[in-house]
Amino acid sequence: MSLRLHYGTTTKVLHWAIVAPLLVQYLIGWLMPDIHRGMQPGVGMTFHVSIGLVLLILIVLRFAWRLTHPVAPESSLPTWQRLTSEVVHWMLYVMVLLTTITGWLFASFRGWSISFFYLVPFPMLFSNNPTAGKAIDGLHQATGWLLLILVGVHVAAALIHLLYYRDRIMARMLPR
Ligand code: HEM
Ligand code: HEM
Repeated sequence: MSLRLHYGTTTKVLHWAIVAPLLVQYLIGWLMPDIHRGMQPGVGMTFHVSIGLVLLILIVLRFAWRLTHPVAPESSLPTWQRLTSEVVHWMLYVMVLLTTITGWLFASFRGWSISFFYLVPFPMLFSNNPTAGKAIDGLHQATGWLLLILVGVHVAAALIHLLYYRDRIMARMLPR
């Protein structure tokens, strides 16, 4: 497989299509009511779970596309930046995946019945299981925070390239 030098349209569309729902996801996550025993999910949780599934589908599609359409790091970058950016990019894929899956597990173990955007029943992975729910309690928060830190580092790096180095890195991910 030949290594491409530039991100294609599909990669760019998928990259930016994840940013907006991810932002909304954090806002809903923080604003929706805290979970307590016996509670039933409300509007906030229904949208959080539904958008979460959309993010999971998008990241799987994106990752599959990335594996089949690899792009070479910008050749002008020093080795340490090429390596660190690759590590951060891989971790971003992994952490979006882990955050969505831990959320889905947590919701499943609660035994909730939720609908996907109030349209069709949301598929749960397991039935009600308080013991398992307790065991993974906090995991979704932890993965969510780690993902947020990675996104922070990633966005900071992009801005440093745009404003300080003034190189082509930002342009690589923008429409031509
Ligand atoms: C990348 C996608 C996701 C992000 C960034 C995210 C983020 C968050 C945040 C920030 C909270 C609030 C945590 C707190 O109270 O401090 C939360 C809670 C929650 N999320 Fe997500 N979430 C995502 C995907 C999902 C998915 C796919 C589901 C279920 C299918 C889900 C289910 C839940 C549940 C049940 C809670 C409340 C329990 C808890 O706080 O652990 N999330 N999420
Ligand atoms: C305002 C927010 C964002 C900006 C400005 C931004 C900018 C960029 C830029 C400039 C690149 C190209 C880097 C290069 O040429 O090596 C890139 C790649 C990438 N971004 Fe972002 N990004 C943002 C948000 C996100 C978010 C939220 C995620 C997480 C899901 C993400 C995941 C990735 C990944 C995985 C790559 C590598 C693509 C690949 O080679 O597979 N980005 N981003």
